[in-house]
Amino acid sequence: MSSQDIPEEKLPAEPGAAHGAVKVADEDNPFADPGLPPHEHRIQDIDERAAKRSERTVALLFTVSMLATLGFIASYVWIPNDKSIYIWPLGHISAMNFALGLTLGVALFCIGAGAVHWARTLMSDAELADERHPIEASPEVRAKVHADFKQGAKESAIGRRPLIRNTLLGALTLVPFSGLFLLRDLGPLPHEKLRHTMWAKGKRLVNMNTNQPLRPEDISTGSLTFAKPDGLEEEGNEEYQTEIAKAALMIVRLQPDNIKDKRELEWSHQGIVAYSKICTHVGCPISLYEQQTHHVLCPCHQSTFDLSDGARVIFGPAGHALPQLRIGVDSEGYLQALGDFEEPVGPAFWERG
Ligand code: FES
Repeated sequence: MSSQDIPEEKLPAEPGAAHGAVKVADEDNPFADPGLPPHEHRIQDIDERAAKRSERTVALLFTVSMLATLGFIASYVWIPNDKSIYIWPLGHISAMNFALGLTLGVALFCIGAGAVHWARTLMSDAELADERHPIEASPEVRAKVHADFKQGAKESAIGRRPLIRNTLLGALTLVPFSGLFLLRDLGPLPHEKLRHTMWAKGKRLVNMNTNQPLRPEDISTGSLTFAKPDGLEEEGNEEYQTEIAKAALMIVRLQPDNIKDKRELEWSHQGIVAYSKICTHVGCPISLYEQQTHHVLCPCHQSTFDLSDGARVIFGPAGHALPQLRIGVDSEGYLQALGDFEEPVGPAFWERG
């Protein structure tokens, strides 16, 4: 229904008198102010049921916002902060961060959407014209600024010293370029580099000290063995430090009955589990293992991870469990990776919270 179809007596009184007063340019004044176009009344202004519908829509949006906020609080309280879930296309991400982001996003969006719908359908629809004020300075102020500028130029003697003037102009022109060149340090983008390591299906686990491929029988109960991917050599490899910083592994043998986490058990081989050696706090290499409790300790800030329970954090500032590498044995009986880590290793970047 348009305002053209509304009976005259149902139209609300118009507070702005200018509506509909479109002026037509005449020959004498081709640039005359055309005024405002005819005002279109909204359906909510003349139909109380439509207004009620809009009111309910706005109230519904605000109610959804309240529920989302309660969901935010519940997510914070109930979801363990080391639980991860798979969300396509983000991959494995923190379940808590996903829930917090989603619920807070919905809560804020619904407040915004409700306010916009309220303003567009129910708040006053009067169109008002405000005269534009002149923004130029008065002639006196301009004359004063002009005089001050001339006085300053005279006192600096810039007119009489073209050498200084020209070199100053050159310096002022060039100096912003130094900032532009610093922007180059923002790149190149890491793309997928932070998400992947050298580990891949079929890659053997090599002892970091002896450089020999590992067999299950090399891993004894109670010991902590450090490993790297087969083929990662330090000699003549410029990328060695980068790759080992992502791919370093620690391997321990547990009694399968002692493994509490179901996924950890599935990803192990005869109780041998392989975890990233890089602490998820700020990336120190983990090196202390307590064989009675199966806890590993990061020496930097004492984050402690329980290797018998998915390497979850039981103490310290680290925010996430250590990523586990799925392992098996190849046809020659050597330990091998069954794929890459399924989440970024080391200090959490923003996807993992
Ligand atoms: S780097 Fe491991 S606890 Fe800080």
